[in-house]
Amino acid sequence: MAKKSGENQRIAVSDFAARKGGKPLVCLTAYSKPMAQWLDSYVDLLLVGDSLAMVIYGMETTRGVTLDAMINHGKAVMRGSEHACVIVDLPHGTYEDSPEQALRSASRVMEETAVQGVKLEGGVEMADTIRHLVDNDIPVLGHIGLLPQKAANRGGFKIQGKDDEGWKRVMEDAKAVAGAGAFAMVVEGTVEGLAQEITKTVSVPTIGIGASPTCDGQILVTDDALGLFSDFTPRFVKRYAELGEEIEKAAQAYADDVRERRFPGLEHCFGVDKGKG
Ligand code: KIV
Repeated sequence: MAKKSGENQRIAVSDFAARKGGKPLVCLTAYSKPMAQWLDSYVDLLLVGDSLAMVIYGMETTRGVTLDAMINHGKAVMRGSEHACVIVDLPHGTYEDSPEQALRSASRVMEETAVQGVKLEGGVEMADTIRHLVDNDIPVLGHIGLLPQKAANRGGFKIQGKDDEGWKRVMEDAKAVAGAGAFAMVVEGTVEGLAQEITKTVSVPTIGIGASPTCDGQILVTDDALGLFSDFTPRFVKRYAELGEEIEKAAQAYADDVRERRFPGLEHCFGVDKGKG
């Protein structure tokens, strides 16, 4: 596991502006303390994404996860990291009703986890809410393009910006989110040219997922990239490891050892010499 330096060198949301058009921001999801420890030294941002609903809890969409669950995972990721900026997703149903509802939810996340900010999905319709959070000192990471929380209502996970109307709508969303004061925005599941145009147009960094190599940063769901989640693999995922297969091999080896009485050995037992525990 990557060593902790003991010094507090956590990346702040205020550091993101300087990365616009510069060295790409490296972002991954994390839901647990051990995963945060493994990733922390290598990334600029760890997102406690509501993708955990599907990836960890096996739900069919991201909509079933609660604010309490997100807070618990946020705390775990904070315990395992000291370098990366940590952001927690506001889950479905905890922020869309009004800016006041969003502030209540975001304030709980900030106070109970001490993360650096929250992420919420939506563009033009969420601009007032983003502004309200920012005015109350809560940094917001926007999320435009394909919106997983709303995908169920919009006919599934569809790439955005394929026609003129869709292109214009997502461009307006990007401008609204930047104008409302988000410190950066995730651009998910758009045609490549649109993500490129958004990146050129808005003043804050864009973080792409299924978007464009020209985005100011990139994010992946870690479990996808490591081969831990294999229910389906979207085209935009690159697999960097096949850990699921490694886990299966290890489980099989353990099962064989136990069944053949090769494990535990006496070296795993106590008081072997004296015959006492
Ligand atoms: O929930 C999540 O993990 C996300 C990323 C895919 C950006 O929103």
